[in-house]
Amino acid sequence: MNLERIDKMIALNCNVTRKQARELVKNGVVRLNGNRVYRAQETVDLEKDTIEVDGHEFSLKEHIYIMLNKPEGVISATNDPNKKTVIDIIPPELKRRSLFPCGRLDRDTTGLLIITDDGDLAHRIMSPSHHVYKTYEVQLEYEVTSDDIKRLENGIILNDGTQCLPAFVEKINGGQAPAAIIRIKEGKYHQVKRMFASCGNKVVRLRRIAIGALKLDTDLPEGGCRELKDGELEMLFIN
Ligand code: URA
Repeated sequence: MNLERIDKMIALNCNVTRKQARELVKNGVVRLNGNRVYRAQETVDLEKDTIEVDGHEFSLKEHIYIMLNKPEGVISATNDPNKKTVIDIIPPELKRRSLFPCGRLDRDTTGLLIITDDGDLAHRIMSPSHHVYKTYEVQLEYEVTSDDIKRLENGIILNDGTQCLPAFVEKINGGQAPAAIIRIKEGKYHQVKRMFASCGNKVVRLRRIAIGALKLDTDLPEGGCRELKDGELEMLFIN
């Protein structure tokens, strides 16, 4: 059994405040297992109960986990007076209050970003102590040299003196532009760009293609998103 108050679950799942959720219950538009309820303190069992609000049934998940293929030009923030954010592009059927991106991708970086309302998960993904590797596909101005790879894999010191943890780097051969795959477990400001800048190179395009063992779904167009499927959440923590 996994019990929660009905007003809390409505607020979490229906994009309304807790106060608005209580009003909905009072107004008699909420059904629990088919029966109308009027008490906001009513508890629901997340494992087996169903809730309908105004005739629409919704799932009773405590948290939502969304895979977004971030497009260029949107910022990794929850709100901004002038710029479009990653939360602005989440479709209404997946929108909830308190959604936020797990970590940041630069405005011009594309690829895998997890959007959730689960603060614990975000901490586990972002903190280097949890050893979650993020994999990036990088297009560069110049070819990566074996000396660059050694420096990056030993833990490069950035031009401003910041020490990075060791990375894994693989040169991609045969493409039209110089390119590489890099895996890092930190998320310092502009980290990948600064790592290559410290090798005298320049990142031309950056795309995150995996977090842990979870790969960006190749069926998702840029700007597209979907809920994580069963088993995918756990893959974030497998390297
Ligand atoms: N490193 C960067 O430089 N930018 C990103 O968006 C992500 C990692």
